[in-house]
Amino acid sequence: MGSVSDSFSRNNGEAVGLYDKRLKNDGDEVIYQIYPSTFADSNGDGHGDINGITSRLDHPQNMGYDAVLFTPVYNFKPGPEGDGGYAVEDYCSIDPAYGSIEDFDRLIEEAHKRGLKVYIDFVLPHSADTHSWFKASSDPAHPEHEKYKDHYVWHPGNPVEGKERPGLPNNWKTVFGKPGADSAWTWNDKREAYYLRHFLPSQPALNLNLEHVRKAMYEQVKFWIDRGVDGVRNDSGSYANCDPQYRDNEWLRGHYPYEGLGWGDQYFSNSMCQESTNDLVREMRECFPDSMITAEVIAGAPGGRESIEIASEYVKAGMDYCYTTYERAIGSSKAGYIRGLLSYIETKFPEGGMWYTISTHDGYDESPRTYTRVANYVGPEYADIAYRQTLQLFMSVRGMVSFFQGDELGLPQARIGTDIPYDKIQDPIADTKGMQYCRDGSRTPFPFDSTKKNAGFSTSDNPYLPVPESHRALAVDIQEKDPNSTLSFTKDLIHWRKQQPALKKGTLNILNTYGDTLAFLRESDDQTVLCAFNLSGNSFPFTPSDVLDQEKLEELGLRTGDVIEFAPYGAAIIGANRPLFNAKLIPAPSPSLGQDRPKEFSLSL
Ligand code: BGC
Repeated sequence: MGSVSDSFSRNNGEAVGLYDKRLKNDGDEVIYQIYPSTFADSNGDGHGDINGITSRLDHPQNMGYDAVLFTPVYNFKPGPEGDGGYAVEDYCSIDPAYGSIEDFDRLIEEAHKRGLKVYIDFVLPHSADTHSWFKASSDPAHPEHEKYKDHYVWHPGNPVEGKERPGLPNNWKTVFGKPGADSAWTWNDKREAYYLRHFLPSQPALNLNLEHVRKAMYEQVKFWIDRGVDGVRNDSGSYANCDPQYRDNEWLRGHYPYEGLGWGDQYFSNSMCQESTNDLVREMRECFPDSMITAEVIAGAPGGRESIEIASEYVKAGMDYCYTTYERAIGSSKAGYIRGLLSYIETKFPEGGMWYTISTHDGYDESPRTYTRVANYVGPEYADIAYRQTLQLFMSVRGMVSFFQGDELGLPQARIGTDIPYDKIQDPIADTKGMQYCRDGSRTPFPFDSTKKNAGFSTSDNPYLPVPESHRALAVDIQEKDPNSTLSFTKDLIHWRKQQPALKKGTLNILNTYGDTLAFLRESDDQTVLCAFNLSGNSFPFTPSDVLDQEKLEELGLRTGDVIEFAPYGAAIIGANRPLFNAKLIPAPSPSLGQDRPKEFSLSL
């Protein structure tokens, strides 16, 4: 694949060393994901924009994030078919709804001035059906048809006796459809063929099995890297390649041939999750040795090629981090499950590389913003405490962590139909897949100022999405004055983590606890940290010396017989100068001097 990267080699063609995040930065980062349509509107048109973000960069800077990540702001197909920016018409542009390319250059400059890296969301697997390439590819009469005819995944279909139009190429399903109306193939009259679209019909899949198409996409990435962008999130990374023989996917055991089969009833053995994507990752790394390269990895049901395994292959192939949906079990699962999950992740990511997303812009009823997910799991009585425990757990595990706008405020998922009236819905899959999948509940405007219209997001009477009253009460202006607020807690947590080498660069070893206790060691050359959590609403003791040897106890300033008395959803992070959270340390009696330490002391290390 060397030829693809030749045109990208820098330093006059000298071999460039592969990007090593542990050399290029000081370890696993904490980043802030912004949904530009609803973060800040600078011109009062109701739509968030780049200048609005630039005017608010002090916020991520003050919070201590290492970088800001934006969902797409390129020219995209207008209206619902634009999928909120993920149906791209021109990758090397800025959509007028967000501003201009000069605005974006200024954003990069202002972010860098504040020590914030800039990551963009690159929609690798598909463009819009209004992209110039697809217009040429789908129209044999187009002057550039020959050049672009293979840029997308086309299939003639399978002849059906007595039918004019051929039948579907195979059984592949779209993730954005309803059972029975959800083929991943859409017929195009001009081309008289089907094209593959894993998402909406307006999002035709690029044929990344072909080298010249991959190279065309890398050119688009290079455009932004050359403008100073520090890295990319590859959208839908596992959808990049499909089986070149277009063979059927396997149905989940026992799911076929029942009616109402949909995307989730298949193993994605052929439609996506191809080994060839590892080659694409290697090419990207060769092309962009100094950039942060990450991806979202969504794969099929457990039992097939599943997402953590696939994500680990991308990291081995040269990506820095990947996220899946499995990590979102943190905060709403039993300790035993999390022990298993973290152990599995460690076996798959021996050099690190997991990206823990606290929330993302894709939250919906069944998989909402993490505050709501935790509150649903633990109940209203413990929601705030369990959410703060969850944030501490996310910041203790090994990997990159991202907060989605509003996570730092503890925003709950907005309710479709009440907080967001049905006639204000923006997300197209509310229609194509079902209202229960609508993601607008996680995409509402960021509430900066409770005293202002639309909580400071916009002066418009018609904001992109309404601000729920419950969010206004959680706005930045209110919380920043309260030292006990979620915002203050989160800001302290992020700044604290930046000072802990073991949490940024260290290894992770799960300790052999049982029941509701989750505990693991994080270790680097210069720090040992015990991270212990009570993932339940019960109170109980935890004795570190039951799971740690004398050497480790001493490194932590602990003694045999010391007991951590956990209250519900307590957290004890020891060795990192952090007060215990909903827990206290009962020191072991010292045999020679009786209790030579006060009965209880908060271990201020
Ligand atoms: C994005 C979604 C988007 C889809 C299609 C996902 O990775 O997170 O918001 O609708 O890809 O591009």
